[in-house]
Amino acid sequence: MARLGHSAWLLAAAVLLSAAAAQLDCGNATFQAGRTYRRCDTLPVLGATLHWTYHPGNGTADVAFRAPQSGGGWVAWGINTQGAGMVGSSVFIASQINATGGGGGAAAVSVVTTVLESFSPSLRNGTLRFDVPAPPAAEYSAGAYTIYATVALPGNSTTQNMVWQAGPVRGGAIAMHPTSGANLRSTKKQDFTS
Ligand SMILES: *[C@@H]1O[C@H](CO)[C@@H](O)[C@H](O)[C@H]1NC(C)=O
Ligand SMILES: *[C@@H]1O[C@H](CO)[C@@H](O)[C@H](O)[C@H]1NC(C)=O
Ligand SMILES: *[C@@H]1O[C@H](CO)[C@@H](O)[C@H](O)[C@H]1NC(C)=O
Ligand SMILES: *[C@@H]1O[C@H](CO)[C@@H](O)[C@H](O)[C@H]1NC(C)=O
Ligand SMILES: *[C@@H]1O[C@H](CO)[C@@H](O)[C@H](O)[C@H]1NC(C)=O
Repeated sequence: MARLGHSAWLLAAAVLLSAAAAQLDCGNATFQAGRTYRRCDTLPVLGATLHWTYHPGNGTADVAFRAPQSGGGWVAWGINTQGAGMVGSSVFIASQINATGGGGGAAAVSVVTTVLESFSPSLRNGTLRFDVPAPPAAEYSAGAYTIYATVALPGNSTTQNMVWQAGPVRGGAIAMHPTSGANLRSTKKQDFTS
């Protein structure tokens, strides 16, 4: 019987440990209402993480997008069906703009769904360029927003041009995010099967 050398065992152990460490970055997150997700990714900027379960049978993904932000700000997550970057993206924007305050419970977080038609989008709550089979939801806790969404991956493709963002609220409305640094690098080609 061939024996695996000592160094091979060490190598195997090191590979397993580093995989576990990579998972810990996002893998120990917990979610409202007992939601769980099979996969997660720590996104390259804005401290955001993406958690998802992809269903190959119907081409949908259940997603939780989490990003740190002050409770007085907003965060957004979406998919660009028209190309890459902001314009053409179908997004979910979470904020506490319409929060009705009060009472010790979790703050009321509203979700606007909107297509960003330009660099100064109307942000009108409407339908996206892909199916959203279940109403989105969001929460704010421990200094982070989490957006819960179920999406039919456009074109039934498991690789999508993803965008995310965080910005301020001014005068009771979603205001422009910073236009430098990390806020301009918050796009990624996301593989929902990896
Ligand atoms: C996961 O746990 C690690 C180590 O305890 C911690 O540093 C990290 O912030 C946690 N991540 C999340 C998303 O809770
Ligand atoms: C997609 O398939 C999954 C797994 O079978 C199921 O849980 C989910 O409800 C389906 N979603 C839709 C919108 O049909
Ligand atoms: C999506 O593609 C998968 C194969 O990748 C296929 O099994 C499934 O039927 C397709 N679903 C839809 C809704 O087109
Ligand atoms: C706030 O409520 C108004 C009135 O219902 C609605 O039109 C608007 O889209 C909401 N905005 C946000 C960001 O929740
Ligand atoms: C956006 O529209 C949907 C569907 O009409 C609605 O359920 C949701 O509350 C609206 N969101 C806001 C923030 O107004």
